[in-house]
Amino acid sequence: MSHNDKTERLFKLRKESIKGGGDDRIRKQHEKGKLTARERIDLLVDRGSFEEIDAFVTHRSSAFGLDDQKILGDGVVTGFGKIDGRPVYLFSQDFTVFGGSLSETHAEKICKIMDLAMKNGVPVIGLNDSGGARIQEGVSSLGGYAEVFWRNSMASGVVPQISAVMGPCAGGAVYSPALTDFVYMVKNTSYMFVTGPNVVKTVTHEEVSSEDLGGASAHGTKSGVAHFTADNDAICLNEIRKLISYIPQNCEEKTPRQPSAEPDSAKAAALDELVPLNPNKPYDIKNVIEGVMDKDSFYEVHENYADNIVVGFARLDGRSVGIVANQPLSLAGVLDIDASVKGARFVRFCDAFNIPLVVFEDVPGFLPGTDQEWGGIIKHGAKLLYAFCEATVPKMTVITRKAYGGAYDVMNSKHIRSDYNVAWPTAEIAVMGTKGAVEIIFRREIKKAVDPEAKQKELEDQYSREFAHPYKAAARGFIDDVILPSETRSKLIRAFEICQNKVDSVPKKKHDNLPL
Ligand code: HXC
Repeated sequence: MSHNDKTERLFKLRKESIKGGGDDRIRKQHEKGKLTARERIDLLVDRGSFEEIDAFVTHRSSAFGLDDQKILGDGVVTGFGKIDGRPVYLFSQDFTVFGGSLSETHAEKICKIMDLAMKNGVPVIGLNDSGGARIQEGVSSLGGYAEVFWRNSMASGVVPQISAVMGPCAGGAVYSPALTDFVYMVKNTSYMFVTGPNVVKTVTHEEVSSEDLGGASAHGTKSGVAHFTADNDAICLNEIRKLISYIPQNCEEKTPRQPSAEPDSAKAAALDELVPLNPNKPYDIKNVIEGVMDKDSFYEVHENYADNIVVGFARLDGRSVGIVANQPLSLAGVLDIDASVKGARFVRFCDAFNIPLVVFEDVPGFLPGTDQEWGGIIKHGAKLLYAFCEATVPKMTVITRKAYGGAYDVMNSKHIRSDYNVAWPTAEIAVMGTKGAVEIIFRREIKKAVDPEAKQKELEDQYSREFAHPYKAAARGFIDDVILPSETRSKLIRAFEICQNKVDSVPKKKHDNLPL
């Protein structure tokens, strides 16, 4: 055999590995509106930066004639590349090969890149498009999944893990994406469920389509399993690139810094008169975020889920921060079960990866009612409280209006070791709002009065003068300053600068016991 022959052999194998399940199946993939595993990688990473590993791996099964169907790569393309010059490890399941189903070797390929990602401190991105466990391999493929799950758990908090669900994802297979930090779903072509529509019909007699049961919209609005939904594959991959730009490579690194940009000028100019003086009138907290943060830098997470709390990444003077904000436009910004869990998960991600936190607070309290109490608002609200308590990243709070009751404590109050807490002149920091408070503490006086309505009004004015402002909290040092809304950006920038080298820790423990 000459050198030429050897080169030829390599080229032949490379060509074979690239064609996956063949032209017919690739055509079918395109007809469904989906890209192939390799086309997705091309869009995800910087041009020409992808290095494939394990292209020549084949499965080891022989059952059901599988020994005649060995396809190079075994249904998953794995390797590493760069996003905006920063390395990532990735895997992309190839639906054209056995429906992207996970065999023992397919799992080994994924595990290999996860091990490398952990060792090298690099994020892992998984593009999922798979019929689940390779049925012909039985328990070997189940074992393969468990190996992946174990690595997802070990990598949690060490390197960022991002999943895109770009096709079917059923049965226990949903648990790998669920163990990762962020889940993207593509509308109309992806779904996730533990049991599909047929089983649902047998067990509960409900008739439901795959899309309604576990499509992108169901998980983006109802369950919160999907943090982001995208109209198609290309948009989804571009969004992942965007997310990566905010986060560090691993838990030891600081966040990447970009050039500073002034905020949207109209929104910044409107800040001083943005908050209505009537506490029952809503306003959009996103206008506050955009008036303070670098222009066009706010990247919202969970946009359509529990929208009474807003979470997402932004840049302040070029530095990434995590934003948690009550949204007066939805349910008056009250904290309920979904909002608490959404906020807690986001705070924990930011803390795990050294992303400083900024809280914009306008919260009337926790949502009352049997639904909430029986659903466990106590333990779910405790998650948000716990998350802020344990966070050791630089953390700041801006109270724009209401900071009432237990929610005052929970939303990153000074008492749970926040670094810099300020209030706008419109802030009301109290046990509860004026009307409710007066009705409780002056019930008898109001009843006895000749004109109960006039009495109530008089007492409300009195309470309001006494409590509906930030100066009692300022007098105790529970907030560090009362500032004009238009001063917020410059004061936060200075406060973060001074906290750049913050050192804080939690007591030594095996691990915490977050209320679940
Ligand atoms: C082996 C599979 C497969 C699987 C699909 N294929 N799923 N091969 N194991 N799990 C193959 C098909 O035989 C077919 O091969 C090709 O992939 C494409 O499949 P189609 O059915 O033609 O495609 P489509 O109509 O788009 O339907 C896709 C699908 C369906 C909805 C995913 O294939 C399906 O229902 N598959 C089974 C899903 C499933 O029940 N998996 C096990 C879940 S339990 P050819 O050669 O014809 O192209 C599980 C446990 C995980 O995953 C446990 C973790 C704890």
